[in-house]
Amino acid sequence: MSSSVFVIGANGYIGLGVALAFRRAGYRVYGLIRNEKLANTLLKNEIEPVVAQAFDDVQQFTDILNTCSIIIDAVGYQPKLSRALLDAAVRIGNNRTQDGKLAHYAPLYIFTSGIMTYGDTSSTGRRPVDEMVKPRPPLSATGHSSGSSTSDVTAMKEREDFENLVLATSSTALKTTVVRPGFVYGGQGGFVADLFYSESEPLVFQGRRDMRWSWVHIDDLGEGYVAIGRAPHVVVDKQLYNLAAPNDNPTYEELRIAMAKAQGRKEKFEYKEVKPGVPTRWDTDSIINPAKAMNELGWRPRHVGFVEEIETYYKSWVAHRSNAK
Ligand SMILES: NC(=O)c1ccc[n+]([C@@H]2O[C@H](COP(=O)([O-])OP(=O)(O)OC[C@H]3O[C@@H](n4cnc5c(N)ncnc54)[C@H](OP(=O)(O)O)[C@@H]3O)[C@@H](O)[C@H]2O)c1
Repeated sequence: MSSSVFVIGANGYIGLGVALAFRRAGYRVYGLIRNEKLANTLLKNEIEPVVAQAFDDVQQFTDILNTCSIIIDAVGYQPKLSRALLDAAVRIGNNRTQDGKLAHYAPLYIFTSGIMTYGDTSSTGRRPVDEMVKPRPPLSATGHSSGSSTSDVTAMKEREDFENLVLATSSTALKTTVVRPGFVYGGQGGFVADLFYSESEPLVFQGRRDMRWSWVHIDDLGEGYVAIGRAPHVVVDKQLYNLAAPNDNPTYEELRIAMAKAQGRKEKFEYKEVKPGVPTRWDTDSIINPAKAMNELGWRPRHVGFVEEIETYYKSWVAHRSNAK
């Protein structure tokens, strides 16, 4: 079996972090991207770019995919695309194992989901939810305190259904695993950094300020994927893993205030009541328990916390922004 990894969406925030972690761990890493201009970034980091305009045109990269023992979907859930990529992995597995007869050639498929699949975890109080807790996506756009939009609700339910499909697809020809990363920070920063570090984002709280989410540094997250990839595939097969640092769950208010302070913003925060029926952003608690990955795979997140080192992360985000210009 090769120790080659194929990362789909390798220029993305999670995709690049995961690709770099596998390379640091000594794997040969291929990174699928659709923008040729980003190939150089991968090459500089010893990742071999594979360029395809449309990722569901799997024929373009089947030969390389065929040589890899681990295939990672780091694009995340997109109804048609996720299904096409899973189907391609099944075909690769079937070919390679001669329809399961040579099970030792079965590749491992890792799908990147997210903690918002759980829905609001506050029903367990501050106790983090583990992988044995069945997700409870928010009820509706208006019938729930989360205020989530209908499309958010549908997307989270569909993503949960797809997670279940990925795990149920496991066979002697393909091993499958699902990762639910916490909210990710560090380096170029993810969507939360992009949103709240923006100078144009008003310092306003609407509605709840005490919700908490689990956080994980991008390097720790990458190491988590490597821990899954390194484990015997029969161990991680049909398994879900929560990957977030234990106890890194600042409140939304603590986080926004720390972000504003790191930016040197002098304005005061405004606090506004939410009008009934007006959706608020991510108005849910999402606190996950990563003990399974830590205990079973020996994964050890090392970073001390997003808020604790937020000045470092803000400076890094700014430097990445200015390089991108
Ligand atoms: N960031 C977080 O904190 C976080 C936490 C938990 C879960 N997640 C989930 O993890 C997944 C990845 O998140 P991310 O933060 O890494 O996002 P990201 O930085 O936006 O990366 C997404 C990657 O997917 C590619 N992609 C998107 N749509 C595509 C399409 N239709 N065809 C081909 N490639 C496509 C992007 O390519 P282009 O650059 O060419 O568009 C990029 O490589 C998402 O599903 C997200 O919900 C993220």
